[in-house]
Amino acid sequence: MLTEAIKKELVSQAIEAQKSAYVPYSHYQVGAALLTSDGKIVQGSNIENAVYPLTLCAERVAVFKAVSEGERQFEAIAVVTRNGGTPCGSCRQVLREFAKDILVLIADEEGVLHQEVTLEQLLPYSFGPEDLAE
Ligand code: THU
Repeated sequence: MLTEAIKKELVSQAIEAQKSAYVPYSHYQVGAALLTSDGKIVQGSNIENAVYPLTLCAERVAVFKAVSEGERQFEAIAVVTRNGGTPCGSCRQVLREFAKDILVLIADEEGVLHQEVTLEQLLPYSFGPEDLAE
């Protein structure tokens, strides 16, 4: 179980990450803070590109940063936008690869929590690594 203090810290780090978003096209800043099972918090923000489809969401930046640093197990992620937007389908699937049922905190940039759900609620009947087991 995550304590309220850790949840607050995750939302606050997601708000901090949101400030680094590179969003010259959409102007929609997203920040994420991913909690590893050994207690580390890895931040991510969305990074857009003049070739629009190359844009990377904040959640995936956080996951890829963490995984490239050797992390493989996660407990929770906080995602912050101006309006409490939810993670896109691609990010749900990327999270699913490493964390079948982590907690997802969806908040706005004032720190107001809009939803607290599990990844399984966001992505039911999902396909994952076990499905490829021989
Ligand atoms: N975005 C994210 O960073 N995460 C999501 O889950 C949804 C969308 C970004 C991508 C793009 O930079 C902007 O928000 C508008 O789609």
